[in-house]
Amino acid sequence: MPIRSVLAGCGGYLPDRIVSNDELSRTVETSDAWIQERTGIRQRHFAAPHETSAFMGTAAARTALADAGATAADVDAIILATSTPDQAFPATALRVQAALGVTRGFGFDLSAACAGFIYALSIADGMIRNGQATGVLVIGSEVYSRILNWKDRGTCVLFGDGAGAVFLRAAKVSDPDTRGILSTHIHAQGTLGDILYVDGAVGQPDKPGHLVMNGREVFRHAVTRLAEAVEEALAANGLTHADVDWLVPHQANSRIINAMGKKLHLPPERVVITVDRHANTSAASVPLALAEARTDGRIRNGDLVLLEALGGGLTWGSALVRL
Ligand code: COA
Repeated sequence: MPIRSVLAGCGGYLPDRIVSNDELSRTVETSDAWIQERTGIRQRHFAAPHETSAFMGTAAARTALADAGATAADVDAIILATSTPDQAFPATALRVQAALGVTRGFGFDLSAACAGFIYALSIADGMIRNGQATGVLVIGSEVYSRILNWKDRGTCVLFGDGAGAVFLRAAKVSDPDTRGILSTHIHAQGTLGDILYVDGAVGQPDKPGHLVMNGREVFRHAVTRLAEAVEEALAANGLTHADVDWLVPHQANSRIINAMGKKLHLPPERVVITVDRHANTSAASVPLALAEARTDGRIRNGDLVLLEALGGGLTWGSALVRL
């Protein structure tokens, strides 16, 4: 009997500190009106010094395990997507493993920028299907506030900090309509690496690294690539727009999100939006949005949910999941 990855639980974590557009406009030459009109963002959460990617990822993972009715003993793999790891090594995933008290299996970090969670979900699904793991925590955790260039108003107003996690459980399935990940598709185009990147890293001399972006180019590619990804996911499963109950998109910009919702012919109330309150939390944005809509009861068991994201690399992808 084939094995499928069931999304058994979700969780999120956001730092306490909320920073409004007005507060930002006291130190950056910007305005609430400009940010809201161009991006839909009203506020973001910024991490305190102790709120690292491992700290926030651990908190989100605990909630996801509790939501699944699982414990640390059920976890045999942790895949953590981040561009802002606590250390070059050990992997942030292993800091989370230790904090949770998981004593078996394996873990690693994955770098695919804002598409990191979709990439991690895809790898986890493959490992579950081929029997390498049976209980996988997939986490996106980011502290972009530490890599923003506060002199660049075109980027520093767009991002926030946070973490989201899901717990995947291996299940034997015979009915194609039962719960689980139906498909994932991931893509990359390294030749577009210079339109969104961090200009440094621990491996580079005297370069702590700040985020750099050509916003217009990213916008243009996002609309095209994500539309392709949506069609690819539906075609691979023999489904149409009408079959999708929810779109949980990467939360970078409400204009991109609305364009995707229209493409799927989904009414706005079927598109989960958190960008207004979280801003862009990169790899954390999709699992945070999913956790919010699960927790408040909007997304229910049996619903067909389309996840999609695009990020620096360029990287992009989709996942189609029956909750
Ligand atoms: N506040 C006020 N004005 C700002 C500003 C800010 N925070 N940031 C830029 N501006 C100004 C620019 O200086 C420019 O002024 P000028 O015309 O006098 O030169 C003007 O606004 C337009 O700038 P531009 O960069 O062309 O704006 P835009 O309409 O492309 O919007 C983004 C900028 C970033 C909102 C938009 O390009 C975008 O959303 N891109 C995609 C970003 C994204 O999704 N990234 C993450 C992917 S994972």
